[in-house]
Amino acid sequence: MPLIQWNNELSVGIASIDEQHKELINILNTLNDALEEGQASQMLAEIFDGLAAYTVKHFGYEEALFALHGYSESQAHKNEHSALINQVQVLRQKMLDGDFIICIEVMAFLKEWLTHHILITDKAYSQFLVDKGVV
Ligand SMILES: [Fe+2]
Ligand SMILES: [Fe+2]
Repeated sequence: MPLIQWNNELSVGIASIDEQHKELINILNTLNDALEEGQASQMLAEIFDGLAAYTVKHFGYEEALFALHGYSESQAHKNEHSALINQVQVLRQKMLDGDFIICIEVMAFLKEWLTHHILITDKAYSQFLVDKGVV
């Protein structure tokens, strides 16, 4: 069963960003499946690194739009992004060193972080960027 299932409540009303969020959810679900299947840590590390790289790319995309359109909540939003980026290597190591329970905890944290960030922090820019014509 997927860890997170996309639903319309997660939409920020901007197609390009929804697609990126769907991709993040896909990679997170792939990582969760790999854990549940008991895949080797080499495989888990590769998927995790893919997730981390895509996360950086996605945050960069949002932040470029904030800069381009002068979004007033940009700094607080960027702070949330960088707090996660700073945590990523710790989470990676925790997962690779940890037992199954620790891995489940890391997944639960990432699920909670991503859904909360999309529903609250990303949705806060939705109307502003839509009004700027971002699609
Ligand atoms: Fe964001
Ligand atoms: Fe986002």
